[in-house]
Amino acid sequence: MSDKPRVFVSRVIPDAGLDRLREHCDVEVWPKPTPPRRDTLLDKVRGCHGLVTMLSDKIDENVLHTAGDGLKVVANYAVGYNNIDVAACRKHGVAVGNTPDVLTDATADVAALLMLAAARCFTPAAASVRDGGWKTWAPMDHLGVELVGKTVGVVGLGRIGRAFAERCRGGWGMNVLYTANSPKPDADRDLGARRVELDELLAESDFVSLHCPLTEETKRLIDAPALAKMKPTAVLVNTARGEVIDQDALHAALKENVIFSAGLDVTTPEPLPTDSPLLDLPNCVVLPHIGSATRHARGGMAIMAAENVLAGLAGRPLPHPVG
Ligand code: DGY
Repeated sequence: MSDKPRVFVSRVIPDAGLDRLREHCDVEVWPKPTPPRRDTLLDKVRGCHGLVTMLSDKIDENVLHTAGDGLKVVANYAVGYNNIDVAACRKHGVAVGNTPDVLTDATADVAALLMLAAARCFTPAAASVRDGGWKTWAPMDHLGVELVGKTVGVVGLGRIGRAFAERCRGGWGMNVLYTANSPKPDADRDLGARRVELDELLAESDFVSLHCPLTEETKRLIDAPALAKMKPTAVLVNTARGEVIDQDALHAALKENVIFSAGLDVTTPEPLPTDSPLLDLPNCVVLPHIGSATRHARGGMAIMAAENVLAGLAGRPLPHPVG
C-alpha cells in the first residue's frame, strides 16, 4: 500500500488537473461518462483524504461519515456548490473549494447565446431547415424580438451576472437593472446599471437572466406569480441552476404566451427527460448545462480543483475556498 494520500475524482477531468494530483496522491478517477451511483460513490469515498466532486454528486453527512476521519478536503469541479452540505463539511473539519472566475466568460457567453437564440426563434427556425418546414423565404415566419436599446434584468450581479451585463451593455446598448444582496457601485458607474427589487426588475425588463446561486431563498424564485409580472414580450434566460425556476409554471407561461420565450442551460432534473413537455414548445431553447464547456474553462477548473485538494491535504488554506 502506498503512503500517499488517496483522492477520488468522480469523473474524468482534464489532465492539467489530474497530472498535478497524481504527482502527490494516489488518484482514482471514475472512468464512466455518467456519474457514479450513490452506493458506488459511498464505496469509493471510503478511506479517501480528498475528493474532487461534480455538481451531480451530493456530498452530505452520509458521504462524510463514510469517507471517515481522514477526509480533509472536497474540491467541487464547479463554481456552484449547492450539491455540498458545507455546514456538515465544516463540522467534520473538511475544507471545501470551488472554481470561480475561470468559467465566468464562458458562462456569460452561453447566457448571451441563449438570449439571442430565444429572442430569434432559433429552435423552430433551425428545426424547419431539417424537417422540410422551410418552404420559401417567408415574411411572417419566425418573427423574433430585437435587443438593441432594450432593458435587461440580471438576477444576481456576481461575477457571471456582471460579465453578462457587460455584454448586454457593450454589445446592444441595453439598460441594465439588477438584483443583488448589496449595492454594486462599480456596475452602477461602469454600466449605468441600477439595483432594484425583483418585482421591478421583472416588470421593467425585456430580458431577464438568472445568475444567482441556488439557496433556500432562490429555490423557485421564478414561479407563476413572478412570471406573471414579466412582459408578454419578455425572454427568460437561466444559466444558474434549474431549481431557481418553477419549471411547471414556466411551461404553462410559455405555452400560454405569458412571456415570449425562454433559454435554459440548466433544468430540473438534469438530464431533462426527452419526453419533457418543455421540449415540445417552439419558444423554449434548452442546452445540456454547457455554460463552462470550453477547453480553457474546463482546463482551468481542473487546475483549481487540484490546487484546492493539494492545499487541503497539506493543511494549508485553500486557494479557492467556499464561503
Ligand atoms: C458551475 O460551475 O457551477 C457550472 O454550473 C458548471 O460549470
